[in-house]
Amino acid sequence: MEKIRQRAWVEINLEALAQNTRQIKKILSPQTELMAVVKADAYGHGAVRVAETVLQAGSSSLAIATLAEGMELRQAGIGAPILILGSSNTVAEIEAIAHWQLQPTLCNPSTAEMVAATMRRLNQTLPVHLKLDTGMSRLGTPWYKTEEFVRSVSQLPNLKISSIYSHLATADDPNTTTMEEQQRRFQEAIAQIKDLPIPQPQLHLANSAAAIADPSYHYDLVRVGLALYGLYPAPHLQPKVPLTPVLQVFARVTQVKTIPPGTGVSYGHQFIAHGDLRVAVVGIGYADGVPRNLSNRLQVSIRGQLVPQIGAITMDQLMLDVSTIPDLRVGEVVTLIGIDGNVEISADHWANALGTISWEILCGFKHRLPRVSINQPQKN
Ligand SMILES: Cc1ncc(COP(=O)(O)O)c(C=O)c1O
Repeated sequence: MEKIRQRAWVEINLEALAQNTRQIKKILSPQTELMAVVKADAYGHGAVRVAETVLQAGSSSLAIATLAEGMELRQAGIGAPILILGSSNTVAEIEAIAHWQLQPTLCNPSTAEMVAATMRRLNQTLPVHLKLDTGMSRLGTPWYKTEEFVRSVSQLPNLKISSIYSHLATADDPNTTTMEEQQRRFQEAIAQIKDLPIPQPQLHLANSAAAIADPSYHYDLVRVGLALYGLYPAPHLQPKVPLTPVLQVFARVTQVKTIPPGTGVSYGHQFIAHGDLRVAVVGIGYADGVPRNLSNRLQVSIRGQLVPQIGAITMDQLMLDVSTIPDLRVGEVVTLIGIDGNVEISADHWANALGTISWEILCGFKHRLPRVSINQPQKN
């Protein structure tokens, strides 16, 4: 379907994605690799397209959350190393991971034994990544048991310890006390294994925020998601690296009408017209990823001008007060997220209004919205 025929769509600027990738690479030392986090359909941007672009622009590997996400990338012909960040606990999953040449995260010695037994039966060796819990209290073995964990896995056949990693809980906080404590624990974990007779695994700790904030968190690779998509994990990190948002969301006006004073708008009549009101109906709703909780709080842009959204956002449509654009016509484009003339509306605006984070906004755009790529970088 052509863009011109869409009621609403997400535009993905692949050149911006490539630029962000290069900008992040620039702040890393030459020996630090960039692992692009492309889970959740690349934060709603389209995993395959994003993976191809970031790999071409300097990322060495990919991270995803689930087996199915990895299979999608392999089926699309992507050959780069792919780490599954989630935990894989069944024999069937491990068989599929081996088949698709994906790399699992191991969180404890007993899962490692199951994986090794499965790989021995398949007569193959699998690269694995050992996860330490240094303070996130999510996946991983506690950091103070690192030696026992690594030693036991290193003695198992058919496994190769590719990396040892941990994840930061507060890297976007300008107060770095907790992050520093996690780093101290990670260092302690590394010290525990320095004398083990094993090939040196890669070490990694940083997400976008830590990668941007402080080079001492870079280690052998950084796992970067949000920053590649052009958003900052926190405002104080903005001066450190120039990033450009990759995703824009557009929809079309589907009807324009004038309603008289006292008329209610949308379900529940949460909005009542005080005078004659020019109303535009737009073909996008909460089933596309515009949160219903933004009702009466959202501003969108038309012809480079901000206009307020009014009444409850419905499943497929929402209404605008377009009294300031009396000659607005059906078919005109509404910018929900993106740049329109001098107006810029970002996922951060939505996140702030909702009391959530931009990660959730980006992941919230549904597959009903076609992803349209623009500015595909030239292959070199
Ligand atoms: C383990 C792990 N590493 C890295 C990332 C990337 O984080 P960010 O998008 O903040 O760069 C995530 C994302 O949630 C993650 O779960």
